[in-house]
Amino acid sequence: MDFSGILNPALNRKVVRRLVLITGSVLLACAQSACASDAREPSEFAWFESNAAIVEGFSQRYTECAKGPSTFELRLGRLAFNSPRLLGGQAARMKLSCASCHPSGRANEHFFIEQISSAPGTADISHSFLSSAGGDGISNPKVIPDLVNRSGAHIRDRQTDDFALFMHRLIEVEFDGRKPPQTIFKALWTYLQNADQAYCSTNEPASGLHQRVTLLREALAVVKDMINLQVSDEDLRFAVSSTRSQLEYLYEIYGLAANKQLDQRLIRLSRGLDEILNQQSIKSRSQQLAKATSEIPTLLDLLYKHEATSAFSLSAISAHLELNKKR
Ligand code: HEC
Repeated sequence: MDFSGILNPALNRKVVRRLVLITGSVLLACAQSACASDAREPSEFAWFESNAAIVEGFSQRYTECAKGPSTFELRLGRLAFNSPRLLGGQAARMKLSCASCHPSGRANEHFFIEQISSAPGTADISHSFLSSAGGDGISNPKVIPDLVNRSGAHIRDRQTDDFALFMHRLIEVEFDGRKPPQTIFKALWTYLQNADQAYCSTNEPASGLHQRVTLLREALAVVKDMINLQVSDEDLRFAVSSTRSQLEYLYEIYGLAANKQLDQRLIRLSRGLDEILNQQSIKSRSQQLAKATSEIPTLLDLLYKHEATSAFSLSAISAHLELNKKR
């Protein structure tokens, strides 16, 4: 797992300062060796205007609102939507994904990055901060739309070629990403076509851990299906690295009171998944996946056991921010 991204000098200075304040030299060591049990906080904390906003907004987790059956394509689309691997440049370095602004397809009303937001819940996606080519030179943050609300002002017919062009531009120009493989792009498109408010199981925030575990299970199922379907190496690589970014997310969430055993399991699983890419045949890839995921039950037990000290817990977040008062 590559956790050294947080040390990338290109990252905005404020974020780096915040992280360094908390973790000091520990993270430097992290770049060279295993990161096990180093204290750290989620990258997402940097996308709030203040500590008070983190406390208010971090525990809000929307549920998914997908029309139709949970097909392979829909699951792959959801994985892509939640994957920083889809984006490039500054967005990827900050670990942003589509879901950072549109969690479960909805609107993140707390999203705030100084350079591109004018108020919480707004972003200027055509800003040079995010895009080397797409910056329009104008600072014009817009309210982040709720993509499952199909009757709002932000309504586009998602079946059209125009919409596909809009998405290509979004990924490749505004967010400096590479052109996604066709299978991945189509799956993302399917995910957006199926995002519909009528299918939200609840409008109340639900358990963050439960949703992340569901997402991880789905991601692993996607990898398994991909191996069996003998998709291209490029597609498989995308799914594997996106699954690893889900593990990285959990690694950050559980870093407030880092647990060595849990850290090591996350790192081992991530490396085990990466190893799939070094295998050539369906058989050896399947064997490697089975080997890497054999510890999943133990991993899940640990995740649930330590939930109360993770950033899934409001009281753990409050205690952490109280100790690290910064802004
Ligand atoms: C930094 C926050 C941010 C990220 C990341 C982001 N969006 Fe958005 N998105 C916005 C904002 C703000 C708008 C409104 C833009 C406008 O009104 O001009 C928007 C608009 C959209 C719309 C148009 C809705 C409509 O019907 O008019 C779609 C679709 C969309 N985003 C999908 C995505 C996808 C797919 C990704 C990932 C590739 C993504 N967004 C990543 C902030 C974001």
